[in-house]
Amino acid sequence: MELEPEDERILAGEYGETRQKMLEILIAIGKVFGAERLVQIASAQVSGASYKTIGQFGLEWLEQIDARAVVPAVLNPIGMPRGRWQEMGVARDFAEKQNAVIAAYERLGIRLECTCTPYYLTSPKFGDHLAWSESSAVSYANSVIGARTNREGGPGALAAAIIGKTPCYGLHLTANRKPQLVIDAVTEDKEFSIAHYGALGYYAGKLVGNRIPYFRKIRPDADGLKALGAAMAATGAVALYHVEGITPEACTFKFDTSGLETIVVDRVEVEQIFSQIPVDAVAVGCPHCSPDELKTAAVLLSGKKVKIPFYVFTAQAVIEANKNTVESIEKSGARVYADTCMVVSPVMERYKAIMVNSGKAFAYVPDMCGAVVRMGTIEECVAVATL
Ligand code: F3S
Repeated sequence: MELEPEDERILAGEYGETRQKMLEILIAIGKVFGAERLVQIASAQVSGASYKTIGQFGLEWLEQIDARAVVPAVLNPIGMPRGRWQEMGVARDFAEKQNAVIAAYERLGIRLECTCTPYYLTSPKFGDHLAWSESSAVSYANSVIGARTNREGGPGALAAAIIGKTPCYGLHLTANRKPQLVIDAVTEDKEFSIAHYGALGYYAGKLVGNRIPYFRKIRPDADGLKALGAAMAATGAVALYHVEGITPEACTFKFDTSGLETIVVDRVEVEQIFSQIPVDAVAVGCPHCSPDELKTAAVLLSGKKVKIPFYVFTAQAVIEANKNTVESIEKSGARVYADTCMVVSPVMERYKAIMVNSGKAFAYVPDMCGAVVRMGTIEECVAVATL
C-alpha cells in the first residue's frame, strides 16, 4: 500500500506504540480489501459503546489504548441515558461499567455524543470521506448525503479516528457506487409512512443482500430515507442505495439502469410485517428521532396519557434544541431519552412484547431484547399506548 512520509514515520514508531498499532490495523484492513492507499477522513463514528455489547473484554481493550483522535469523532448509542439512567431503571452495576466505557472513550478524545444520527449534530458534505461504523448512519451518510464510508467495525473506526485516515477501497471509490439492481416499489398511490419505508427496507434488505439497489416509484422524505436505509442495513448488508430523483448521486450521476435485474415489491408485501398483537411497551426512535419525528410524536400525544411505558430515543443535542417539544411529549408520561436505544439498553429486556415503528428495530428486538415485536406507524404506536 502506498503510504505518505508521515504515515511511514507513524509506522516506524516515531509517534508512539499506540499510533503505530492503530496504523497497522488500518493497513491490515486495507490489504484484505485491496486498498492502494489511505484517504483523509472528515470524521469518525465509533460503534462498540454499549457495555451490553462490548462487555468486560471490550472495556479492558479500550482502557489500554493510549492515543487521541485527530478528527471529530462521536460514539454510537450506549446502554443508558447518561443523565437519567436511574429513572430508566438501569442497574447500578451496569451503569458503573457503562461509565467506565464512556471514560475510556473520553480519554481517547472521542466526543461523548452517543447517537446513531451524528448527521443531526454536524452533517458531512457531499463527497466527504468518513469512517463511520453504525450501519444506519453509514447508509444515511452514503445514500442521503452522498458522503463516502464503508461500514467500519468499531476498532477500525477508532483506529481511523486516531490516525485521521481510512483505507481507500469499497464505497470510497466512485466506480463501486453504481446501482446493481432496480426495485420498483408500488405504493398504490397512497404515500408510504415512515414505518412503511422501514417495512420496505426490512423486506428489500433480504432480497438485496449486499448489493446497491436503485429504487423507483417512491418519494420518501429525509425521515423515510433514514428508515428505509436503516432496515435494509439490518436485514441485508446494504450500505448504499439510490432513489430515483431524490438521493444526491441518483440526481448527479444519472445512472443507466437499463439491463439491471428489476424486482417489483407491492404494498401487500411491505405491509405483511404489521400486526395487532398485544404489547407491554412502545419504543420509537430507531434510528434516533429527527426534530420532525419528535414534533409528530408531540402532536399525537398532546392531551393524552400513556398507559404503558412509551420510550422515545434521540440524540442529546436534538433534545437540547427541541426542549418544548420534548416537554410536551413527556407530559403524556412518555419518556424521551438520549444516548441509548431499545436495542442497546438492557432495560428493554424486561418487556415481553414491544411495539416499534422501525424496520430495523423490528429486525433486532427479538434477539437483542428477547421480546416479541410488533410493527406499526407512529399513529398506531400512540393509539396502542393511550388506549
Ligand atoms: Fe440506532 Fe439503536 Fe436503531 S443504535 S439505528 S436506535 S438499533
